Amino acid sequence: MDRKPPGNGGEATRGSALVSSRRSGYTESVPKTMTPPHLIKSNERLIVALDVPTPAEARKLVTELDGVVSFFKVGMELQLAAGPDFVRQLIAEGKKVFLDSKFLDVPETVKRAVEQVVRLGVSFLTVHESGKTVPAAVEASRGSSLQILAVTVLTSFDAADIQGLGFQCSPEELVLHRAKKAMEAGCHGVVASGLEARKIREMAGDRLLIVTPGIRRPGTSKNDHKRAVTPAEAIQAGADYLVVGRPIRDAPDPRKATQDILEEMEASWKTLPA
Ligand code: C5P
Repeated sequence: MDRKPPGNGGEATRGSALVSSRRSGYTESVPKTMTPPHLIKSNERLIVALDVPTPAEARKLVTELDGVVSFFKVGMELQLAAGPDFVRQLIAEGKKVFLDSKFLDVPETVKRAVEQVVRLGVSFLTVHESGKTVPAAVEASRGSSLQILAVTVLTSFDAADIQGLGFQCSPEELVLHRAKKAMEAGCHGVVASGLEARKIREMAGDRLLIVTPGIRRPGTSKNDHKRAVTPAEAIQAGADYLVVGRPIRDAPDPRKATQDILEEMEASWKTLPA
């Protein structure tokens, strides 16, 4: 499967017949609002997590990365600190926003909350793969451009943590089980570590976007991640999007750190089979 990205303009870099045949395969089997993986712009494949406590700090990071990345993740911390207006502002400036709210509630509450997210105009929203949460979110997103991502198993969990929750299986088995359920519910994508991305890709083909956090450059601190991979490993495993927070936020030169990660991603793509 060709997973190389198109150029920054979003056009396919390869023969249009190939693209259109993939496109028709895509439209038959995946939610209509899902971006076909081969059409994702390469400069949008890196999503920077704005994990900062104030809108001013978020703005500073966005400005520092101007022209390098245009896709930002707004997590719980910044949602509470800056409110929806900050998100609307980013979108008005032409940025894409991944709202990382990780919803988990009774279906009616999830549905009503997702309807509010649709109004915001963000591109991605996370919900936990648990019970009826994903189906409720998918239903509420229908007809909009919002893509729902199911959180499978947090990358801070290892085998012992999973056992502690009462599951008698490995993290990988649980990730695959949840990814399959999400796919069957019509979900657009999953959040999964680079260690499980390959198996998810084998199971789902292009029917699920794979968004991978827990990215660390070789030889750097993994912080709280127990299942971290390098940017190159994530690309090789089939991740469509990489999410990076602290390695950029805490870098002495965030712009340079971002460019280094993008370079590693590009180099890795070049080695993927054509
Ligand atoms: O700082 P770091 O690069 O580890 O940031 C990872 C980001 O990805 C954080 O914002 C965290 O909330 C998010 N994350 C996630 N799912 C995981 C692991 C991390 O959404 N399984």
